[in-house]
Amino acid sequence: MATPKKKYLVGNWKMAPSSIAEAKKLMVATRKKAREYKKVTTIVCPPFPFIQVLNSYITSPLIALGAQDCFHEADGAYTGATSVGMIKSVGTRYVIIGHSNRRDLGDTNEMVAQKVFHARSEGLIPIICVGEKVRDPEGVYLQHLDVQVKTAISKIQKTDVKKVIFAYEPVWAIGAKSAMEPNDVHEAVILIRRSLSKVTSKEIADTVPLLYGGAVGPENTVELMKKGQVQGFLVGRASLDPHAFGLISEYVNNS
Ligand code: PGA
Repeated sequence: MATPKKKYLVGNWKMAPSSIAEAKKLMVATRKKAREYKKVTTIVCPPFPFIQVLNSYITSPLIALGAQDCFHEADGAYTGATSVGMIKSVGTRYVIIGHSNRRDLGDTNEMVAQKVFHARSEGLIPIICVGEKVRDPEGVYLQHLDVQVKTAISKIQKTDVKKVIFAYEPVWAIGAKSAMEPNDVHEAVILIRRSLSKVTSKEIADTVPLLYGGAVGPENTVELMKKGQVQGFLVGRASLDPHAFGLISEYVNNS
């Protein structure tokens, strides 16, 4: 199977750090490492209020900004919502969509599909998160994953699927002590590519970068990358520690 050549490392800062001063410090430290590892595109996803200021810190094509979410409508009277057009206008090129934290707050597969549509309409690259809550012995999770993948891309053109990234994040591994077994990650990777090829083509499915997320740290990066057959990672906690994030960059770069 042909696999995509580009490698990605996404830092999802979630609701941290607590001030813009801290965010600037974290960005400077993250950027220093990102510049060293030339085979990896690092995508930093800070909270919305920090994005515009941090945009002036993007001085290398090896690092880019992403948002952690967007609203599922392009405009309208929605108190507290942030549209794709707004996040694009302050310098983001990527947007995480369908993270399990957002699904827990009410995002449905249909809303994920709408967000992906609006993101692509504005030319942003969606980083679409999919993943099961539990792995049941009957294998219902396989169908759950298939539906998540197919619905997420149901509102965009088939050829536009080349411009999305998928992140496989089993919900139970997010924030956990240890990551998923690399062989199980590989099984999910095969399944996601199969789902993508059913609704697009094998050729298109093989171009889509697939990342893994959930308790990724320097200690498990190499094995997950090699055995999991992923093109990089979506990292939560470890992205707030520049030393750990730098090591993950190094390992992704060299894998
Ligand atoms: P974690 O988070 O790396 O802290 O497990 C991953 C995520 O929420 O995407």
